[in-house]
Amino acid sequence: MSDPDPVRRSLMLGAAAAGLAAAGTAAAQTRTDTAPRELHGQPMPEPPADKSAGPVTPGRGTQLTGKIAVVTGAARGIGRAIAVEFAANGADVIALDIAGPVSPASNAVPATPAELDETVRMIRSYGRKGEAVRADIRDIAALRRVADRVARDHGRIDIVVANAAIQRWKPLMEMEDSDWRDVIDNNLNGTANTIRAFAPIMVRQNKGRIIVLSSLQGKHGTKDAASYSASKWGIIGLMKSAALELGEHNITVNAILPGLVDTPLTRYDKRLTETIQETGQKLGEHPTPQQAWDIRAPTVPLKVGWLQPDDISPIAVFLASDASAMATGANFEVTGGDSAKVV
Ligand SMILES: NC(=O)c1ccc[n+]([C@@H]2O[C@H](COP(=O)([O-])OP(=O)(O)OC[C@H]3O[C@@H](n4cnc5c(N)ncnc54)[C@H](O)[C@@H]3O)[C@@H](O)[C@H]2O)c1
Repeated sequence: MSDPDPVRRSLMLGAAAAGLAAAGTAAAQTRTDTAPRELHGQPMPEPPADKSAGPVTPGRGTQLTGKIAVVTGAARGIGRAIAVEFAANGADVIALDIAGPVSPASNAVPATPAELDETVRMIRSYGRKGEAVRADIRDIAALRRVADRVARDHGRIDIVVANAAIQRWKPLMEMEDSDWRDVIDNNLNGTANTIRAFAPIMVRQNKGRIIVLSSLQGKHGTKDAASYSASKWGIIGLMKSAALELGEHNITVNAILPGLVDTPLTRYDKRLTETIQETGQKLGEHPTPQQAWDIRAPTVPLKVGWLQPDDISPIAVFLASDASAMATGANFEVTGGDSAKVV
């Protein structure tokens, strides 16, 4: 499914290694604005070193060496890609997932403990520590126990990615209470629980990176998926509010907004049908994946029907890195170009 492409990975690792070697040179350590930073003889204040992205070094923004990360919803899909790409770039990763049924209000097949173990195997294949934790993001007490235990075992938690979510396709007027409530509870309350459980550790450290997963569907309405869209809009409000509160503790909070990505969240007949209908066309109830791709791709600026999880994870590495020091309270969209249609 999101098995990392070994060629791409080795290229990335090779580039990172070359970057590290070059980083040893004096030239690579200097700031780019070499002129004296002053006005009328007065020095210009600048961000302190612990908050700044610092001088240019090759590979910065792709290096997470020695950092400790927690990724929720890491058994598969985008969460797995982020967890594995973190490891490929030097981080130890705690992969958290319920790895079982979440709610009847989920169109996706449940993730399994075997999938979570596979994520950990992939993390370890990069020589990093990986650990599987089965927990439900709706249970804040459980998340707090995980946060305390990880902080005790590893000494710190540098990065938290609140990625776990479910999706429901149902017209508003046909919804059961659970189709609305469970999606909001899981996606919005669960993401808030994750921030509330892990941020206190980061406040103690006076440093941290929090990344939440919203969606481009958090920026436009979605016919027949109102609870999902609303949960993803809510996550943007949550992210911006958390960024306002946590900035003084040197913690950044940002959202990744993927476009349509092929994962178990989206790989079923109903989603393919909706994908086709969104383009204004109609094909029957069981379109083939190729038919859906062929109809959708021409409508996307980069001419792809959908993206892969591994297309989303590189931006997570940047947002988790020291190089993103001055980015907070912001949306980062990776959509193949659908972003161009939304303000
Ligand atoms: N796939 C897409 O097209 C797409 C587009 C935009 C945004 N996103 C977002 O990206 C994130 C990952 O989606 P994905 O496509 O990889 O989905 P996925 O279904 O493949 O993976 C989601 C994972 O989250 C886990 N999970 C769900 N609820 C949980 C809970 N209560 N506690 C613990 N774990 C839980 C599931 O077990 C699963 O392993 C989600 O936030 C989703 O909304 C996905």
